[in-house]
Amino acid sequence: MTSLKFHWTQQAQDHKARAGILHTAHGDVITPTFMPVGTVGTVKAMTMDAVRSTGAGIVLGNTYHLMLRPGAELIHELGGLHKFMDWSGPILTDSGGFQVMSLGALRKLNEEGVTFRSHIDGSTYKLTPESSTDIQYLLDATITMCFDECPALPASHDTIASSMRMSMRWAERSRKRFKTRPGYAQFGIVQGGIEPDLRIESAEALNKIGFEGYAIGGLAVGEPQEQMFETLDVTVPYLPSDKPRYLMGVGTPQDMLGSVMRGIDMFDCVMPTRAGRTGRAYTSRGTLNMKNACHIHDRRPIDPECDCLACSKHSRAYIHHLFRSKEILGAMLLTWHNLAYYQRLMRTIHQAILDQNLEEKATELHNDWNKGDW
Ligand code: GUN
Ligand code: ZN
Repeated sequence: MTSLKFHWTQQAQDHKARAGILHTAHGDVITPTFMPVGTVGTVKAMTMDAVRSTGAGIVLGNTYHLMLRPGAELIHELGGLHKFMDWSGPILTDSGGFQVMSLGALRKLNEEGVTFRSHIDGSTYKLTPESSTDIQYLLDATITMCFDECPALPASHDTIASSMRMSMRWAERSRKRFKTRPGYAQFGIVQGGIEPDLRIESAEALNKIGFEGYAIGGLAVGEPQEQMFETLDVTVPYLPSDKPRYLMGVGTPQDMLGSVMRGIDMFDCVMPTRAGRTGRAYTSRGTLNMKNACHIHDRRPIDPECDCLACSKHSRAYIHHLFRSKEILGAMLLTWHNLAYYQRLMRTIHQAILDQNLEEKATELHNDWNKGDW
């Protein structure tokens, strides 16, 4: 084990956007960064070598799914999640509460935690701040997330306030349970819906507890982008400037660009991987539906500016054929391409912050997205 302390160093700042490096027990990650989602210990349709080749530095796993199958004890027994899935870089695990609620499983929520039925075999499980933290320890997560509740919106100010305050008590319990190890971290999660006063109260409560990093949860749950950006504008100033900031479950290329410009350093989202399995391609000229008949005769790569395996070896016509034929290679190639696009976008943004020209680069990116296909 390393004696390195988990920390984030800033390389450059351009207005509110930051370029930096996350130093962890499992290596360094350049920020802003996008974390591909590996819910059950696999980034769907990708080998981990393929994920690495896109430039990803850190991936995400889920407490909820892994505790149900194959179980945290088994993964611990087999040497931890890094070894189990062949990812030697850092892994962030989400704490489970969000997945219990969003999967709509039968559940009961109270101050103690959440009781729910497994979506796999219907058996009853319980997650608490303490057990979620213990499970993430057994998984050997580089970054452990606090156990929180993300209330469904819209909801009244009172409802959001009491949910947020319970999440803050849960954050305190999660922190108490967390076993500090060199190069490992635990992040708090700001809640509070789109209510400015509650977001500030939540950020201040987490600051007081003290974490190695701070996440913003409860966004990208159906609200317009403008409301998400407004919430970032009120929240970010209350987070410590020397710690990484992670916007959970976001998002589109446009969401990520706008959020970096508001001070966010880390993202995760199923969008590029899920879209890759359903035929949607992300490109610097917007998205393409690869199932569309317009690709039947098209000899061009998905994105002429992309150097991924799909774009360097295959035509749009071929990828279209694979999706039409429901061949699994279609999902593999398009997931690869989408992740390569997301990683290239983050590198472009990172470089623009170093060059102090993110605003000009943002205008250029938006112009290209709006131009449509080549
Ligand atoms: N993923 C997306 N949003 C959230 C959130 O609010 N909480 C947690 N734990 N995970 C998330
Ligand atoms: Zn490509």
